[in-house]
Amino acid sequence: MLPLEHSWSWLAVTVGVLLGVRPSACGDLSGARPNILLLMADDFGIGDIGCYGNNSIRTPNIDRLAEDGVMLTQHVAAASVCTPSRAAFLTGRYPLRSGMVSSNGYRVLQWTGVPGGLPTNETTFAKILKDRGYATGLIGKWHLGLNCDSSSDHCHHPLNHGFDHFYGMPFSMMGDCVHWELSEKRAGMEHKLNVCFQIMAFAALTLTAGKLTRLTSGSWTPVIWLTTAAFLFFMTSYFVGVLIVHADCFLMRNHTITEQPMHFQRTTSLILKEVSSFVQRNKHRPFLLFVSFLHVHTPLITTETFRGKSMHGLYGDNTEEMDWMLGQILDTLDMEGVTNSTLVYFTSDHGGSLEAQLRNHQYGGWNGIYKGGKGMGGWEGGIRVPGVFRWPGVLPAGRVIHEPTSLMDVFPTVVQLGGGDVPQDRVIDGRSLVPLLQGTAEHSAHEFLFHYCGKYLHAARWHEKDSGRLWKVHYMTPRFHPKGAGACYDRHLCPCSGDGVTQHSPPLLFDLSRDPSEARPLSPGSEPRYHAVVARVGEAVKQHRRTLSPVPPQLSLGNIIWKPWLQPCCGTFPLCACGQDGDPSET
Ligand SMILES: *[C@@H]1O[C@H](CO)[C@@H](O)[C@H](O)[C@H]1NC(C)=O
Ligand SMILES: *[C@@H]1O[C@H](CO)[C@@H](O)[C@H](O)[C@H]1NC(C)=O
Repeated sequence: MLPLEHSWSWLAVTVGVLLGVRPSACGDLSGARPNILLLMADDFGIGDIGCYGNNSIRTPNIDRLAEDGVMLTQHVAAASVCTPSRAAFLTGRYPLRSGMVSSNGYRVLQWTGVPGGLPTNETTFAKILKDRGYATGLIGKWHLGLNCDSSSDHCHHPLNHGFDHFYGMPFSMMGDCVHWELSEKRAGMEHKLNVCFQIMAFAALTLTAGKLTRLTSGSWTPVIWLTTAAFLFFMTSYFVGVLIVHADCFLMRNHTITEQPMHFQRTTSLILKEVSSFVQRNKHRPFLLFVSFLHVHTPLITTETFRGKSMHGLYGDNTEEMDWMLGQILDTLDMEGVTNSTLVYFTSDHGGSLEAQLRNHQYGGWNGIYKGGKGMGGWEGGIRVPGVFRWPGVLPAGRVIHEPTSLMDVFPTVVQLGGGDVPQDRVIDGRSLVPLLQGTAEHSAHEFLFHYCGKYLHAARWHEKDSGRLWKVHYMTPRFHPKGAGACYDRHLCPCSGDGVTQHSPPLLFDLSRDPSEARPLSPGSEPRYHAVVARVGEAVKQHRRTLSPVPPQLSLGNIIWKPWLQPCCGTFPLCACGQDGDPSET
């Protein structure tokens, strides 16, 4: 029944196109039911792409997508780190509304074996489209939790969130599996260890100094014992950590672990095979496929074919490999004859990481002219990402849109196209992009967008439609380490609160329409409307806050501490190891 409906609506569209009545001219694509292919890169900078202005990195496939489709230049992620940004993407809501934000510094899920995750009562676009007869698949990274009470209840699993097929990493590339040197997890652990060592050293010095000055005849023994015990404790937790990190590098198909740990030489080809078999299986019905790349997150797993080929080191190689994968996926659509009936979207979950460095070599993305990067909720570089839509014959080719749009907009957009309804029992922050993409609306539906870092509101933007000016107000900004460095190199990720940020009162104001790099803060002297703009944005923030209600925090300490009984393991714990699976084409 549903595939038939699908072909009828397609027949209508096709006839329309043949008669020269482009659907965009009809103005209403609701329920057009195209296939939907969403492609998301991990930690990819907007400055790393040819069509966004890079002239030395080769991304011909992304560029081609933009030439044949619509390119958004002011596309903004709802958070500057993975877990909350992805939660917002899938639900169309600020991550604060689902509890997917932290107040304690742990801003993403740190392990697979933790009970935090996307709450089961949140509704993803996959769930709505599945209910409307779509085949729904997720291939690649998830990073939104797995278990609640046992190692296999899979309460947060993609299959419990509206996807009927899953192949990929339930966790992320964060726990390194290959180059331990380039691991984000290692960087974080070592930072904490360093702090611990400093505290210990300080304690030992104070004790010693105390003893010496008082010239008591006390012995050194307690100091030595204390230091040794603390040293052993931290070393043990470090190595146990390494063991678990390794166990987090695994692949699953649906509810089954297929490889633990993963064999990275084959991961890229396994993912591509899986995509092509999903499209083959489902080409006769509408499908929604979310391909969530493991690229270009550190440790930058790159096959031999692409190693050493780019002008930008391992990061450039990895980027060019991802672009090639994207090309392979577009070729699959061509081969299966579904290119014209498929809406394709490409984005990144947030900006490139400036702190991903090793011995002064950059291993993270480049955010072009934008200030800051991954982890900075307010500065543009952390949240401004690529956004490209292609739907041949329906969306105009080569259009560039400079209106503010959000990754959260994908939710109502695909729900509308798939003929579903957005939930009415909760606030949805995304706005359908259909009118803007088709060209029936000139302006985005967003007047204000709010930029959070964890649960803290760092900044807000106001698109003043009449004047076309784009204001951005910063209430807090991260303190860089070392000072003035433009990033938090020795903390590995900029903090959101406490002494890691500077509070601005009065707030910093920028006019992004004239100063996209946020280089020149305005003052009442330089901008006569300073007070009026700050007051108007302040009013919008107040109104926005009235729509928030408290929900269970998913990244609270209890929810992000590793629990052995939640660790998925396909061997004998803690030696989790199991073989490769052969054929990815079942189910
Ligand atoms: C292109 O991307 C590379 C790699 O991130 C970066 O080093 C370079 O500065 C970028 N070039 C331009 C013109 O943005
Ligand atoms: C989900 O459940 C939590 C806890 O009961 C509740 O606070 C929240 O409002 C619910 N969310 C939705 C979207 O219904």
